[in-house]
Amino acid sequence: MSWNAEREKKSTEGSRAPIGVFDSGVGGLTVMREIMRQLPSERAVYFGDTARVPYGSKSRETVLRYSRQIIRFLRTRGVKAIVVACNTASAYALETIRGEIDLPVIGVVKPGAKVAAQATRTGRIGVIGTEGTIHSQIYPEYIARWNPQAVVLGKACPLFVPLVEEGLLEDPVTDEIASRYLKAFDGSGIDTLILGCTHYPLLRSTVRRIMGETVTLVNPAYETARSLKELLRERGLENPDAQASGRPEAAEQAQGGHPGQYEFYVSDSVEHFQRFANTILPFAVEKAAQIPIEEY
Ligand code: DGL
Repeated sequence: MSWNAEREKKSTEGSRAPIGVFDSGVGGLTVMREIMRQLPSERAVYFGDTARVPYGSKSRETVLRYSRQIIRFLRTRGVKAIVVACNTASAYALETIRGEIDLPVIGVVKPGAKVAAQATRTGRIGVIGTEGTIHSQIYPEYIARWNPQAVVLGKACPLFVPLVEEGLLEDPVTDEIASRYLKAFDGSGIDTLILGCTHYPLLRSTVRRIMGETVTLVNPAYETARSLKELLRERGLENPDAQASGRPEAAEQAQGGHPGQYEFYVSDSVEHFQRFANTILPFAVEKAAQIPIEEY
């Protein structure tokens, strides 16, 4: 094979590789769901650190160490790009990791911040997230890149994650807690609110009811999938096997994936993960494997 043909073959093989997606647990499945919807031709490997969740209350050093281990694991699956599908890990680890590896890496904060910065009319933006994400000030930093005048108000909502994990998406307890948290924005004049934690898009209707119709809710998961698509195109890494995209059966295939298109790994037992995954993904996750992540 000529040198050029060899190179061409290598690069096509590279673009057929899966995308690595990781989160502290199940929440990143909201990002995975958007990737499945918006990039139906791509393969993906998901890792949820269910044994060590939550990251939201941990230190920067710990989240960085965990993220490095996960990336080492994902590399053993031959991924071509990495999506840090966790706001806290995006806030604490993304920039460092990016300097350490030779793969494209994107997080969830930048895409959400960009859209919010461009969407606001009043110039006042709210962000809700874990303590780590809010404390890191990462959203205000990114928002300032596109809208330096914007005023950003953050509110940590630590009870939202356990409420979602308990399946209390529509529940009077969730309504009560959300009302108390979101009171922080009373009279603030925000017209845009970023759901800055992977679990929060699942509480969208509760947040919508409390904030009213006039506030734009930004779901970083949706924006991240769009940015990923753009990134793969720019780098020539789109999967050339258009088994789904552009064909009439595309939507149907994207619902179920084809065998081997998606792989799921966790660091704790798979049962809880599967139960949760099966309530939010467009198809049943039949297989997931437990990985001894501390060994990576
Ligand atoms: N995935 C985390 C995030 O988006 C939420 C759960 C946790 O605290 O680990 O920040």
